[in-house]
Amino acid sequence: MTNSSTLRVFLTGVTGFVGGSVLASLYTAHPDIQITALVRKESDAEQLQLVYPNLLIVIGTITSLSLLTSNAAAADFVVHMAGDNLPAVRTMIDGLASSSDGSPLPKIICISGPRSLIDRSLPVTGTASPSEKIWSDVADAHTILSLPKERMHAEADQEIIRHSIAKGVGTILLSPGQLWGRSKGLLRKEGHAATYYAAVKRRGRAFVIGDGSVAWSWISKDDLDDAVVFLIEQALKSGKERREQLGVNMEGYYFVQAGDVSLIERAEAVNKRLGFTEVERVSVEVAAEIHPFGPLMWGCGARFRADKLRKLGWRPKEVDWRALMEEEGGERA
Ligand SMILES: NC(=O)c1ccc[n+]([C@@H]2O[C@H](COP(=O)([O-])OP(=O)(O)OC[C@H]3O[C@@H](n4cnc5c(N)ncnc54)[C@H](OP(=O)(O)O)[C@@H]3O)[C@@H](O)[C@H]2O)c1
Repeated sequence: MTNSSTLRVFLTGVTGFVGGSVLASLYTAHPDIQITALVRKESDAEQLQLVYPNLLIVIGTITSLSLLTSNAAAADFVVHMAGDNLPAVRTMIDGLASSSDGSPLPKIICISGPRSLIDRSLPVTGTASPSEKIWSDVADAHTILSLPKERMHAEADQEIIRHSIAKGVGTILLSPGQLWGRSKGLLRKEGHAATYYAAVKRRGRAFVIGDGSVAWSWISKDDLDDAVVFLIEQALKSGKERREQLGVNMEGYYFVQAGDVSLIERAEAVNKRLGFTEVERVSVEVAAEIHPFGPLMWGCGARFRADKLRKLGWRPKEVDWRALMEEEGGERA
């Protein structure tokens, strides 16, 4: 990297499952980077400050647009981890543009998600289709960025890229698979994987929709942190040519994936962990009663490959989802 004592990174979402862990990893890996984080509650800021004394905290919300503009303008790089919020991302891109020379070098990572790959107009069956597509972020890069806008994340992804191109700012959309493992974040340790585990415990048996053959690509929480830190390091490397190797904007959609797990494999594994035997077949309606996103999380799936990160030399370190499920004290599946 260039002289990292002068580098400044602005983060949003650091009290969350994803952002909390990214903050922990970046703070540890690069103690000489000046990290500034947006936090909305004073009480959370106080707790964070005790653990991260060198962290600069700005109190505000994702709707505090002038705060976002000025902090992005003062930063060398931004990582947005506080959900799809177009006005917030647009204003941070505006801030970055004000301090840019107009060349679209990588300046911001926005965490998106692979749910845009799901066609919600199709019936939810829980059963894998024989013609299921395995998406590549290299071969399918442009297709992914022109999916119908009514799909989750799709409109936000496309608008963020459109605005980045207009402003001459390089944006990376990072799309992680199902997240496995405990977050290193201070305030939120478990993500959606804990929701299924808790529902199985309550019902006394694991459950699937249909035959559960549908699968999600997955990545460990630690490997997602690692991918974010890796991309920041690449983006802040000295030498324009090296930074230009990182695809941005229309070439800037990156999957983060280690493997795939079908919902029936997961159900059988969690049953084994909890000492249950039967896997229940539930209807879409029952899944929706268990959780509003139940049909989407447990009846649909998407498989994809992190070809871009692999081309850059990045590899996931954790490749066994069962080990992450069975982690001592872990309540997730
Ligand atoms: N978890 C997953 O499995 C997964 C997988 C793929 C993609 N993603 C994506 O990753 C992103 C983060 O997910 P997550 O699981 O970390 O969510 P999370 O645990 O709910 O965290 C959300 C973060 O955003 C902050 N935030 C929300 N609204 C805000 C506002 N109005 N002003 C300031 N901060 C605000 C929250 O702050 P407070 O603590 O103050 O609420 C928190 O820090 C999302 O875009 C999600 O779609 C997640």
